[in-house]
Amino acid sequence: METLYQTAETTRKSEFAAICARSQHNALVAAECANLTGGRPNGDGVARCDTVVHVPRAAYVRTGLRLLARGTTLDELVAAVEEAAFPADDFRIDVHSSVGSLDGTHRAATIELADALPFYPDLEDPRHRFVVCAIDDYLWFGEVVSEYTQDYRRHDDKPRRTSSSLSSRLSRALVNLVTPAQTILDPCCGTGSILLEAQSMGIEAYGVDWNRTMVEMTRENLTQFGYDASVECADARTITRTADAIVTDVPYGRSLDADESVIRGILRRGVELAPVAVYVAGETMTTWLEDAGYRDVVVYPVFKRAGSARYVHVARREHV
Ligand SMILES: C[S@@+](CC[C@H](N)C(=O)[O-])C[C@H]1O[C@@H](n2cnc3c(N)ncnc32)[C@H](O)[C@@H]1O
Repeated sequence: METLYQTAETTRKSEFAAICARSQHNALVAAECANLTGGRPNGDGVARCDTVVHVPRAAYVRTGLRLLARGTTLDELVAAVEEAAFPADDFRIDVHSSVGSLDGTHRAATIELADALPFYPDLEDPRHRFVVCAIDDYLWFGEVVSEYTQDYRRHDDKPRRTSSSLSSRLSRALVNLVTPAQTILDPCCGTGSILLEAQSMGIEAYGVDWNRTMVEMTRENLTQFGYDASVECADARTITRTADAIVTDVPYGRSLDADESVIRGILRRGVELAPVAVYVAGETMTTWLEDAGYRDVVVYPVFKRAGSARYVHVARREHV
């Protein structure tokens, strides 16, 4: 049965919002948020959304809220909170940092809202955590019901890595772009950063690399964390293993054997193996993807500190 709550206006089904972490990868953050929650974040990184149950696995979606009350002004919001009936013992209230539409300080707003609740606060060890955020023309009062665990961070300590290894956070976000895939293939797995994230979320993952040293590195990394993915040494242009999705980081950059004909060959094979794919590359390769048989290619640039960029491509095969 769906949870019901009272607002000042009426009784309605639960509504949710997601708050995204600050990041320079704005477009990728928005894409992860849309795929995990069904909502696109506004300029403050807040999205009205359908669900927040997947927030714990997110790379960039920080907090999931159940929305409890709203108002077009702080006074209206305070009145709505006063009228709404929800448990709030030992509460804490925070104002989302970019809420600019509150008159006066965030602290004053917090005090007014706290006074509207017939419960005692506990800032140190709250049982109920509330957040005030702005979406469209409303100020919303929501309760925190989920948060990202950042459990991908433990993979930052993987024993084997190279200068081309992806960060665990970016790898997590890439896998989240193909949720709810049950099986994932990484045909250029390198040290296995993507496989680690997939496996940790209970997704069956297969890795391939034509470099035996990379295959050994991936196996060592997987073993370190107790994961049991299958990894084989093969040329990605000839493999036959299918999956719900491909998530991979094709060879690019001076240190890798990046050759247009090899990459095009990997894409042509990939389109046969999975209906949806995420390809990371050093340049945009929309035309190559379309030539290989993909459509609906969307590109998210991901900027690195040194000023260079990677490009995350999400593509679907034409004949799905
Ligand atoms: C950018 S690296 C992948 C890095 C990886 N995501 C990580 O985090 O370690 C690309 C990898 O593709 C592999 N590769 C290049 N061409 C390949 C091919 N035709 N078949 C299989 N692997 C290939 C390279 O050996 C390299 O390990």
